[in-house]
Amino acid sequence: MAEKVTIGNCELWHGDCREVLPTIAVGSIVTSPPYGVGKEYERGGRLEWLALMSGFFAATDAEIVVLNLADVRCHEDKLIAPVRADVVGRKNAVTAQDVIDAAIAGRGRNKKEIAEALACSEQTIDRRLFGNNARGSKAEAQTRVFLSGAAASDLASVAGYYLHDSRVWVKDPCWQTCQYHSLSDRAVDEHEHVLCFRKAGSVPTFDRARLQVSEWGQWGSRSVWAIPSVRNNDDHPAKFPDELARRMVLLWGFGVVCDPFLGSGTTGAVCAELGLPFVGIERDRRFFDLACERIAKVGAGETAVQGDMLLPANAESSTPQGVTRTPG
Ligand SMILES: C[S@@+](CC[C@H](N)C(=O)[O-])C[C@H]1O[C@@H](n2cnc3c(N)ncnc32)[C@H](O)[C@@H]1O
Repeated sequence: MAEKVTIGNCELWHGDCREVLPTIAVGSIVTSPPYGVGKEYERGGRLEWLALMSGFFAATDAEIVVLNLADVRCHEDKLIAPVRADVVGRKNAVTAQDVIDAAIAGRGRNKKEIAEALACSEQTIDRRLFGNNARGSKAEAQTRVFLSGAAASDLASVAGYYLHDSRVWVKDPCWQTCQYHSLSDRAVDEHEHVLCFRKAGSVPTFDRARLQVSEWGQWGSRSVWAIPSVRNNDDHPAKFPDELARRMVLLWGFGVVCDPFLGSGTTGAVCAELGLPFVGIERDRRFFDLACERIAKVGAGETAVQGDMLLPANAESSTPQGVTRTPG
């Protein structure tokens, strides 16, 4: 049985959300699930991701489900033939076709001789023939862009949810894709999606008074949100910014807000600051403990959390709150 920790009006579960969700009552889900990009907690690849997300949708009956998701740009697909990124006019203009032509013309030539004929290195011959994919990297398999949001939308509709709203979060460009920037026709990774699903047949309950008129103008009614990424990811590899969680919660977090992929506890910390009832679920022990610690600090009056987007502690949540552990 999953362990439960109670901190003020936050209930935190250490366990698998597919097992815990059917046992609790929540109004809305606000979360950033795993993206299926091969982090330590998502080794199973794309099929595991699809199974996780369909299991999640089947396990919840929240009225609203808000997901922060990214298109996955590094999805390896061994079924796709490698695309060569020959760039004539670069430092070395030798193309894969030049190598093939030189090999055919000088039947019996070895690699060294082909390289001499083309006035390039043997490494260039290898790269042109075997290693040069569309990003200019040496990956063996081609990669493609996987539209996680589209896949999530299909899974959601099977579970009776429909896509009600979507926003684009413009973040810092991802350094992992930036470093290949000059060698590729593909965009660097610098945006993610926020998708709001509603349960079919549910009655909308928007509380417009949660946002001031100026906030509606600045971001509440805008589809593009520019928010810096979290810079200090040393304790959890995939934290989302407090400000992103805050906007998701303020717009769509009704009833008891739940983050079933709690991670370091960002959504919980934001709810604690806003004085909203919250339930979080996290499978990894280290991240669960981290989230408990972080939410307890907010309950004790410290500001949330990540340093880049501090929110003012509000009067209600600044009262120190007790922590209760219920062993599983
Ligand atoms: C993208 S991270 C969430 C990060 C979080 N928004 C934050 O700011 O720290 C996804 C989290 O889901 C957790 N997770 C993965 N599968 C899970 C499952 N079946 N049940 C509960 N948590 C899970 C992972 O351990 C990871 O911490």
